[in-house]
Amino acid sequence: MAVSTPPSSDRPAGADGTVTTIVIAGATGDLAQRKLLPALYHLWIKGRLAPNVPIVGFSRAPMSSDEFREFMWRGIREIGGLEPRREDWDAFAPRLNYFGGDLAKPDEVAVLRGHLQTLEGGEAAANRLFYLAIAPSLYDAAVSSLGQCGLVEETPGSGWRRVVVEKPFGRDLESANVLNSSMHRVFREDQVYRIDHYLGKETVQNLLVLRFANAIFEPIWNRNYVDNVQITVAESVDVGDRAGYYDQFGVVRDMIQNHLLQVLSLVTMEPPVTLEADSLRNKKVEALRAIRPWSTLEAARNAVRAQYIGYRDATGVDPHSATPTYAAMRLYLDNWRWQGVPFYLRSGKAMARKSSEIAIEFRAPPHRIFPANPRWGPLSNILTLRLQPDEGVHLRFAAKLPDEGMAVRPVDMDFHYGTAFGTDDLPEAYERLLQDALEGDASLFIRSDHIEEAWKIVDPLLEAWEDAISHPVQWYEAGSWGPESADALLSQDGRSWAPVGDRHGRIND
Ligand code: BG6
Repeated sequence: MAVSTPPSSDRPAGADGTVTTIVIAGATGDLAQRKLLPALYHLWIKGRLAPNVPIVGFSRAPMSSDEFREFMWRGIREIGGLEPRREDWDAFAPRLNYFGGDLAKPDEVAVLRGHLQTLEGGEAAANRLFYLAIAPSLYDAAVSSLGQCGLVEETPGSGWRRVVVEKPFGRDLESANVLNSSMHRVFREDQVYRIDHYLGKETVQNLLVLRFANAIFEPIWNRNYVDNVQITVAESVDVGDRAGYYDQFGVVRDMIQNHLLQVLSLVTMEPPVTLEADSLRNKKVEALRAIRPWSTLEAARNAVRAQYIGYRDATGVDPHSATPTYAAMRLYLDNWRWQGVPFYLRSGKAMARKSSEIAIEFRAPPHRIFPANPRWGPLSNILTLRLQPDEGVHLRFAAKLPDEGMAVRPVDMDFHYGTAFGTDDLPEAYERLLQDALEGDASLFIRSDHIEEAWKIVDPLLEAWEDAISHPVQWYEAGSWGPESADALLSQDGRSWAPVGDRHGRIND
C-alpha cells in the first residue's frame, strides 16, 4: 500500500534477484492448506513470486518434500476448494520443500537453519519470512528458539528477517503484553507482521478509498450528519470442528476484539497524511483510544451475549459452557467527530445468513413535509458498505412513488463489485497480506499498540461476563438473527438494526 511504489503486480517478490525464503511453521495444518498455500499458488500464477522464492514447510509430522507436495495438492483441492491445472501445479510444486521438526525445540530449529542455508546456496543476503501458522500457545517458545538459533538475526550484509503472526494475539491485555514482550526480545517491532485477515479484504480496503478518494462523504462523516453506525459480521456456519479452540475463546476474542474493531477504526479514524504504514496506523490507534472505556458494570449494560441452541452439544464444547457464540454491543467515541454517535457492533455464528456489512445511518430530515408511510419506517439515508458476500456499496434514499400523489418510499442506489468490474473473483485476503509482508509494507498489519488498545476495550466486558449468575448467557435459534435482547439494545435508543443482506439492486421491500 505504500504510495511511492509501483503496483505490486509489477514487482514480483524476489525480483531483485535475492533469494527470499518463506518458512511456514505449522505447514501441515488447516490454515496452510486452506489459505496460505492457495494464496502463494495464486501469487505465483499471477507472476508475483519470482523463481528464487523457495517455500519451506516445517512441522512436527515426518514427511518427505514429495509427500508434502502431494499432501498440499490434495489439500488445496479438497479443503481449499481450488482446482489448479495439474501442469500449473507441477510447475509450482518444485519450489515447495519440507523439513520435519518442532519449532519449540532449539536443537531441531538449529537443524532447520542448516537446511535453509543449503537451500539458499549459502547466500548471506537471502531474506527470510517466517509464518507462524501454529497454536498461539506455542508462539513464545517458537520465537525464542528462532532467536536462540540465530535464524532471524539481521546483521550487516544479511537479508531481512520478518515474522508473520496469526490471531488470536493473547486472550486479554495482560497476555497480549506478555506476548509482545517476548516478540520484542527477538524481533524489532518493524519485523513483526500481525495478521488480521479482514484488512486483506478488498472491500475493507475500499473503505479507505470511499472515505478519502471521494470529496462527497468526508464532510458528512461526523456527528452532525450521522445518527448511528452499525457493524454486522454474521456467519451462517456454526463452530464446526473448531469447538475445542472456540469454546476457550468465544465471539468477542475470536471476532470482535480483532476484525470488528479493525473495521471500526477504519470507519472512525481521521484522514491520514499518507498511506504509509505508520501514518495510517497512528490514526487507527488514535480512533481506538477515543472509545469510551467501560467499567465492568457499564460493559454488561451495553452488551449482550448469547449462544445458539445446540452449541453445548458440539464435540469439544463444555456441556455447561457460557462461551458466547453471539455478541452485540454499543460503543461511543469521545472526540469531536463522533461525540454522542452510538456504534452498534454484532457478530455471531449459526446466523440466518453470512453477511458482513457496515451501515452508516444518517440523521432524518429535520422537518417532514411528505406523508409518512409506516410500511417503510423512517426515511433516513443509509450508506451500506457490503464487505461480503456480493461485495459493494449501497445508498438508501427517499424517492417519490410514481402516480401516488406525494407518497415517498426508500430506494437503493447500488454499486456491485461483480457488475462494475466484471468479476466476482476477488483475491483472497491472504494473497494481498503475504505479498505485502514480502514487500515490507506493514500498513495492513497490526501494530502492538493497536492490539493492546483493542484488549483494553473488551477486557471489562470479558470480566463482567465471568459472573454468569448476574449476566446469564442468552439463547438464540440457529439460523436466526440472534437473541431478542440484541434488538432491545437498539430499541432502548429508539433505533433498530438496519436490514442486512441481499439487495441485488432491487427495491428492498
Ligand atoms: C476467523 C475466525 O478469524 O474469521 C473464524 O477465527 C471466522 O471463527 C472467520 O469464521 C471469518 O472470516 P471470514 O473471512 O469468513 O469472514
